[in-house]
Amino acid sequence: MFNNISKTYDFLNHFLSLGIDIIWRKKAINGLAADKPKRILDVATGTGDFAFEAAKILKPEKIIGVDISQGMLGMAEEKIRKRNLQHQFEVRMGDSEKLLFEDNSFDAVTSAFGVRNFEDLEKGLAEMLRVLRPGGRVVILEFSKPKTFPVKQLYQFYFKYITPLIGRFFSKDSSAYTYLPESVAAFPDGEDFTALMRRVGYSDTKNRPLTFGICSIYTGIK
Ligand SMILES: C[S@@+](CC[C@H](N)C(=O)[O-])C[C@H]1O[C@@H](n2cnc3c(N)ncnc32)[C@H](O)[C@@H]1O
Repeated sequence: MFNNISKTYDFLNHFLSLGIDIIWRKKAINGLAADKPKRILDVATGTGDFAFEAAKILKPEKIIGVDISQGMLGMAEEKIRKRNLQHQFEVRMGDSEKLLFEDNSFDAVTSAFGVRNFEDLEKGLAEMLRVLRPGGRVVILEFSKPKTFPVKQLYQFYFKYITPLIGRFFSKDSSAYTYLPESVAAFPDGEDFTALMRRVGYSDTKNRPLTFGICSIYTGIK
């Protein structure tokens, strides 16, 4: 599915979110500023937008992005070349549920809109924890479900009817933007998500809802 939508992915992200996704990414990455991480792993990096934000704000020595979709990675590689960031940001094909890195090898691990797509969420979160160094921080940006009237109702209408319609029009995969609201509805959010993070082994977990709870930043420490 992500191979099919890779060419229109960036455009639709900004279009459907009215550009708010850019602000969400900045806010999430800013949560790592005080840590000054040198080596960062961006899981489910896709076309690389979260990692590019990390490169700009945090100026680490190295960011490695991992994703299972060659199509998405192809777009990321093109952007890396255009921005001349080959020395700093490198992408690799790989499954987040079986990361090919040593234990404790990154100062920070990030993922934006990625963990919702894992087949086995606990396994993916455990892998992210394994490769994080002790004291390192994980930052996860993910859709959540607004709870209050009328945002909840407006959001449900937009996500259920408008998003699939626009997605079908612009992207090559007619099911991808129906999958989006369905996967968000089925995904644990808020305290349910931080409880899961603690169960996996993260400590000092925090949940910061953004834009009426449409999206949330989750952080935890190894
Ligand atoms: C919604 S995109 C997010 C991309 C990017 N992080 C962003 O912020 O725009 C989700 C990405 O997760 C990737 N993905 C899904 N399951 C994965 C897995 N098990 N391992 C690695 N990547 C995965 C998909 O290929 C896709 O590129």
